[in-house]
Order: sequence, then C-alpha cells, then structure tokens
Amino acid sequence: MKIAVTSASGQLGSTIVKELIKEIGKDNVVGIARTPENAKHLGIEIRKADYDNRQDFDKALQDIDAVLLVSGMAEPQKRIQQHRNVIEAAKSNGVKKIVYTSIVGDEEKNAFSPVVQSNRQTEKDVQNSGLNWCIGRNGIYIEPDLEYIDTYLKEGEIRNCAGDGKCTYTSREELGVAYAKILIEEKHNGQVYNLVGDPIP
Ligand SMILES: NC(=O)c1ccc[n+]([C@@H]2O[C@H](COP(=O)([O-])OP(=O)(O)OC[C@H]3O[C@@H](n4cnc5c(N)ncnc54)[C@H](OP(=O)(O)O)[C@@H]3O)[C@@H](O)[C@H]2O)c1
Repeated sequence: MKIAVTSASGQLGSTIVKELIKEIGKDNVVGIARTPENAKHLGIEIRKADYDNRQDFDKALQDIDAVLLVSGMAEPQKRIQQHRNVIEAAKSNGVKKIVYTSIVGDEEKNAFSPVVQSNRQTEKDVQNSGLNWCIGRNGIYIEPDLEYIDTYLKEGEIRNCAGDGKCTYTSREELGVAYAKILIEEKHNGQVYNLVGDPIP
C-alpha cells in the first residue's frame, strides 16, 4: 500500500509523514510538495505538485492507493478549486481513498468562518468523490497560539473559530498520529471526526 501526503514540506504534512513512516516504512510513503527542497529532509520520495495545477497532481498521484489532502493556505474561496484539483486527479488516477484535514467551528459568527465555510465545501467534494473517504476536523493548533501569546496579550483577546466559546486545542503531533491511523485503517472510511482536545476557556 502506497500513501501520499500533500504539503509534505509543511509542519502538519511533515508530521503526518513521520508518523506514517513509523507505521508502514519509508518505501510506502510519498511526500507531495510545491517546493520539494523543503521536504527533502524527510528521506522519502518527494513528488512536486502545486495545488493550483491539476496536471501536477495527475503525475504526483500515479500508483498511489491513498492520499492525505492537507488543506491549503490560499484565501478561502480559492482553496475550493485548489482542493478540487487534488480530488479530481485522485479520481482519475486510480487512488482508492482520500483523507482531508478540515477544521472545527461554526460556519457563521466567528473570525474563522470564511475558512470554515470553504472547508465545508471541500468536505462535500470529498464525500461526493466516489472514493473511500474520511474527514478530520482539526482543532486549533496549540503551537502557533503559544507563539502569538504576546500579541494576544497586547490586543486583549484571542480571535479564532471558537468565537466566544471554549477552545479545543490540539498539537500537530497528536494530529499526525491520528491521521496515520485514519489512512491505514479501513474502519475510519465514511467518518467525519472532530480531532480536538479538551475544551479550555
Ligand atoms: N487548525 C489550525 O489551527 C490551523 C492553523 C493554521 C493553518 N491551518 C491549516 O492547516 C494547514 C497546514 O498547516 P501547517 O501549520 O502545516 O502550515 P505550514 O507549516 O505553514 O505549511 C503550509 C504548507 O502548505 C504548502 N502550500 C501552500 N500553498 C501551496 C500550493 N499552492 N500548492 C501546494 N502546497 C502549498 C506549503 O508548501 P511550500 O513548502 O511550497 O511553501 C507548506 O507545505 C494549513 O495549510 C491551513 O489550511 C490550520
């Protein structure tokens, strides 16, 4: 079984790659990256693909059984087509399973709502793909918020997808472990999981 991870050069993607290597070995994990140099350190096969380029993904997804789609960084409305490029290429190239990293939170009423709305559209696209699928809705990553603490103190508030509610932080490492299992184990197919920690005020 060969599993590919997009955004392998990024912090979440590379963490998922490392967990997958522990489970299925280096030869069975392929990293997909817009900037392959940034993913070289992983020591696995890296294929180049930009979310804006469907043809890149047609090549990158050759001989891949399952793909992990890490949500993109572009503005929310642009991400929908970027993610469709990956989903359509997966469908056309014999990929059997797609797993998508989405986000928890309300589609209205909070600072992250445009991102949440865009991710919900990709969730629908993944569910309608005809492939085996699983969706993880990630909690807010704790690591960046720790880096922003001084800014939050200055501004007097933290604005994110928790709105006025409690925040269910997760670490990227916890998510890496979860996504590796989700990719490998068939029992997760067809599920939408909230991958979140204990809510804190
Ligand atoms: N839940 C949360 O709290 C939270 C917080 C921040 C972000 N996010 C989401 O989670 C994702 C991963 O976060 P992260 O912390 O791992 O981000 P990160 O370390 O900044 O990595 C971002 C990755 O996205 C890649 N990328 C950007 N545009 C691309 C494109 N057009 N085509 C292909 N790859 C592209 C970058 O590739 P290059 O190496 O080429 O730049 C990089 O690998 C983000 O993209 C965002 O959707 C969630």
